[in-house]
Amino acid sequence: MEIRLDYTNMMAAAVGEQRGIHDADLNALEPRTRLIHQQLMKARQEGRLPFYDLPFDNDMVASILRAAADLKAEFEDVVVLGIGGSALGTLALFRALRPFYHNLLAPEKRHNLPRLHVLDNVDPAGIFQTLEFLNPETSVFLVISKSGSTVETMSQFAIARQWIGRSVQDYKRHFILITDPQKGTLRRLAKEEGYRSFPIPEGVGGRFSVFTAVGLLPLAIIGVDIQALLEGAAEMEKRVTVEDFRQNPAYLNGALQFLAYRKGLPISVMMPYSDALRDVADWFRQLWAESLGKKNALDGQVVHVGPTPVKALGTTDQHSQVQLYMEGPFDKVVTFIALEDYGVDLTIPGVPGAPELDYLEGKSLAELIRSEQKATAMALARNGRPNCTLTLSAVTPKSLGALVYLFEVQTVFAGALFEVDPLDQPGVEEGKELTYALMGRRGFEEKKQAFDRWNQGVGERSL
Ligand code: PA5
Repeated sequence: MEIRLDYTNMMAAAVGEQRGIHDADLNALEPRTRLIHQQLMKARQEGRLPFYDLPFDNDMVASILRAAADLKAEFEDVVVLGIGGSALGTLALFRALRPFYHNLLAPEKRHNLPRLHVLDNVDPAGIFQTLEFLNPETSVFLVISKSGSTVETMSQFAIARQWIGRSVQDYKRHFILITDPQKGTLRRLAKEEGYRSFPIPEGVGGRFSVFTAVGLLPLAIIGVDIQALLEGAAEMEKRVTVEDFRQNPAYLNGALQFLAYRKGLPISVMMPYSDALRDVADWFRQLWAESLGKKNALDGQVVHVGPTPVKALGTTDQHSQVQLYMEGPFDKVVTFIALEDYGVDLTIPGVPGAPELDYLEGKSLAELIRSEQKATAMALARNGRPNCTLTLSAVTPKSLGALVYLFEVQTVFAGALFEVDPLDQPGVEEGKELTYALMGRRGFEEKKQAFDRWNQGVGERSL
């Protein structure tokens, strides 16, 4: 068992009639789920959902492993320049699959593997401090952008390029461009200026791209077993392409989330009980939000639909958020991620002079954290709060590959249930265009005027 889905506490028998799911709800959804399955499989066959087949692309993996072997030997620091889908998957798997203090360990303690830094922003302080930490001679930058033109990534690239160029002769050796195979500024630069590059396959968008060079190259350089990661994904592929949605964890979880939303629970909390999995919830938050939050349905109708994903961490957020989840508005569904095996464990010793702590003596921290997760799940259910638990046997490349793949399929399946396109993100365009206007990009002069008119029109207020 790598991953098990327990949805007892989503059901009416556990959380009550009003917000709990009934077998009749699941039965009523069944014909739609079969139709959606057929549509997804057809789209996959026709090459419209290429993320499904990434775990089986052996040539891609071989070329990534070859490059990673060279880069590992050549450099001490790897910096990912990218944002959103170009950064979050790498961050999540880095945190999960390398030791917590990987970057702080002495080289021999991390087997002389490079450190990894993922910028994911254009905060000048963050970038300044990263560059200040790095040595240009021994740093390589992976410039990752599907479109090849994202303003944040292009700005990061421009700054890093100048910074490297100031002290290194052969500056191009310090950049690898990971981008669209044909289009965009980065692809053109790769062709015309001879940077090393990797393609992000056609049809694979940012948030579905972690199993391409986008995630696999940085992860392989820092020693993550990417073959095991893809093996886990490939094993999960068998489970999540089963037609019967009750036997398919991605479809079932997508259906449960959809039904919960329809029962008036628009907020979807993901709460791993594991420090290692903290950023998996962050990656999922983007996947779920950008894929499902849409103004228009597939038929063009205005629907303004989409669950709001929230990330939390157990047990930390039991002392920060759970009061709200337990007693606040009935608007949330919680997905716990639990672990059977934490890889290491610590026994809690007795404390002389504190007999009231005797109950802890000899118990382990893993037992404590697992008990807290179970207790919170039950307490929520008893208070009428639907929740489910995904249990992983352990945090390994295989189980993480499986988990990521499960969530990707769950997302496209949920997209079909919500009747939206899970692959686009039209809602971020206007903000992008106004940014271009404010930054003086040619062709966006009218937008700049619109920006100024808007501010005057609404009567700007500030204190
Ligand atoms: O998932 C997505 O498509 C987005 O989050 C993108 O990854 C993000 O906007 C960055 O885009 P790009 O990869 O084109 O630089």
